[in-house]
Amino acid sequence: MPRTALARTGIAAALTLLAIGAQAQTVLKIGYTPAKDSHYWVGATAFCAEIEKNTQARFKCQQFPSSALGGEREQIEAVQLGTQDLVITSTGPVGNFVPEVKIVDIPFLFRDYDHARKVFDGPIGQDLLTKFPPKGMVALVWTENGFRHITNSKRPIVKPDDTKGLKVRTMENKVHMDGYRTFGMLPTPMAFPEVFTALQQGTVDGQENPIPVITSSKFSQVQKHLSLTGHVYSPALLLLSNTVWSKLSEADKRVFLDAAKTSAAAQRKKVDEDDANGVALLESQGMQVVRTVDKAAFQEALKPAYVAYAKEFGADNIKKIQDVK
Ligand code: PAF
Repeated sequence: MPRTALARTGIAAALTLLAIGAQAQTVLKIGYTPAKDSHYWVGATAFCAEIEKNTQARFKCQQFPSSALGGEREQIEAVQLGTQDLVITSTGPVGNFVPEVKIVDIPFLFRDYDHARKVFDGPIGQDLLTKFPPKGMVALVWTENGFRHITNSKRPIVKPDDTKGLKVRTMENKVHMDGYRTFGMLPTPMAFPEVFTALQQGTVDGQENPIPVITSSKFSQVQKHLSLTGHVYSPALLLLSNTVWSKLSEADKRVFLDAAKTSAAAQRKKVDEDDANGVALLESQGMQVVRTVDKAAFQEALKPAYVAYAKEFGADNIKKIQDVK
């Protein structure tokens, strides 16, 4: 074949390959409520980088931080419907979709991060992940929001009595709300996108969230007091729509699951860093911090709620989680 014809054939082949490559790229929408640079952003960024690298860019993501796709309940619904591909969400609203998950929202259930991570990475957590596909979603991995602490604009909180009469924004989560009522507070459920304004306008006196959320949401601008209550561990999940999952090859499914593990490790690392540095940062921004909280008094106040939790979830199941070493 003459050289010019050969060159033309080569260019045509390259263009065809490019066209196939371009056609085959899928852009996945991933949403979450915390801001860019938060722990959720770190997790999403790690996941997206891994799937892009390990599928030779056949998959990539478009990220939607800061509730750009709505609150967590709305985003889970969208993933279930297949109109959104992925969400990183706390378990706050998840029990309304997958009731088996509610047990992990019990206050003071987990001793520390090590205990929580062992439970979620072990048989109990892995079994819970199997409950999602019948609900239209694949739970790729347990990731993390962190231990929750109370902030408010009225007074320092050391013991449950100090929360009496405080209107505190909570997640739309009955397990939390039933527990928090025993402290004396008035839980006020609200979707996260409304919280900053509600705190600013005084519609609620306080809120409770992990340090990475308090820092990345700039709550120090609208809240005076922070108490390190650590009253509940807040797990998170990376959820993928069944619509996407069902179209993946076996090899791509493996890539997504591995990427999810890398993402959870990165997100947990960011939680550790924010917990280590965030309190001093919030103090430097003017917050008054109570470091020594009477946790025994909070646990004592919770006793009636634990009677109800045992009835709902089974005392044995609660003990199984508590006994993980
Ligand atoms: O408080 C909440 O609703 C959750 O902790 C948040 C901030 C949306 C992160 O999952």
